[in-house]
Amino acid sequence: MKGIILAGGSGTRLYPLTISTSKQMLPVYDKPMVFYPLSVLMEAGIRDILIISTPADIDNFKKLLGDGSDFGIRLFYEVQPSPDGLAQAFIIGEKFIDGEACAMILGDNIFHGDDFGNILRAAVVDAENGMSTIFGYRVDDPQRFGVVVFDEEGNVADIEEKPANPRSNYCVTGLYFYDKDVVGHSKTIVPSDRNELEITDLNRIYLENKSLKVKLLNDSFTWWDTGTFDSLIEASVYVHEYYKRTGLTINSPEQVSFEQGWISKEKLLTLATRYGKSPYGAYLKKIAERGSV
Ligand code: G1P
Repeated sequence: MKGIILAGGSGTRLYPLTISTSKQMLPVYDKPMVFYPLSVLMEAGIRDILIISTPADIDNFKKLLGDGSDFGIRLFYEVQPSPDGLAQAFIIGEKFIDGEACAMILGDNIFHGDDFGNILRAAVVDAENGMSTIFGYRVDDPQRFGVVVFDEEGNVADIEEKPANPRSNYCVTGLYFYDKDVVGHSKTIVPSDRNELEITDLNRIYLENKSLKVKLLNDSFTWWDTGTFDSLIEASVYVHEYYKRTGLTINSPEQVSFEQGWISKEKLLTLATRYGKSPYGAYLKKIAERGSV
C-alpha cells in the first residue's frame, strides 16, 4: 500500500500568509500543518509516501522531512507544475504507485477522533482487496466541498463537487483509499469547467463500479480543511486545548512512528534533542521515557 500527500496549490485564500510560504508549512499550534496528514498515513501503517508540491515549495518539504528515515518511513518527492486537480496526483505518482493500492491525503486536512487507527487500517485492507474508501463528515457549509448525495434508503447515490444547492450536509473529506486501478481510472478523467482533474469524478467512477465505501465519521470526530483564516486558528486552538487538558499533542509523526515500533527510544530521544528548547522536543522526550502514553 502506497500513500500520497498532496501539498500543492497557491493558497490564495490565505494571502498574505502564503505569498512566500507553502500553506502546508504554516503552524498548527506546535508543528507544521503537513505533520498532521503525514501522521494519519503513518497511523494507517503506510511507510512509502510520496509528497507532491509546487516547484517553488518542494525543496522546503525536503528540508523539513528529508528521506523519512527520522520517522521510520521512506519519503519520495514529485512536483505538480500547476494546480490542475487532485486526481492528477495519481498520474504524477504512477511510477511510485507501481500498480499497488494507494491512499491520498490533502496536506491541509486535519483529523482527530476515536478509534481512527482501526478505521484507517480497515480502509487499507479493503483497498488492497479492491474496495475503495472515502470519508463523509457533517458540516454547516457543504457548498465548499465535495458533497455526498443519499437516496431514500440512505445509500450513496452520487457525489457532487461544490454544488450551489447541496443535497446533504455530508462533505467528502480529503482522505481517500483507492485500489490498484487508481492510476488507470485517473487517466480517463476529463478536465472540469474549472479545468481541473476532479477527485469527485474519480470517486464517481468507483461509485458506478460499486467499489466505493463512503464511511461516515461520527460527530465525535474533528476534521478541518485548514485553508481559511478561521479554520486555521480553530485547528490551532483545538490542538492547544487538547494539549492543556491531556498533556498530549495530536498527530505527532515522531510519536506515531515510535508507537508503531518503527523507531527506537534512542532515536526518539535524538529527535527530541534536535528540536532544542522547543516544548515539542520536551514532549517527545517525555513520550520516549514513558515508553508509551
Ligand atoms: C477538495 C476537493 C473536495 C473535498 C475537499 C476536502 O477541495 O475538491 O471534493 O471535499 O478538497 O478538503 P479544495 O479544498 O481543493 O477546494
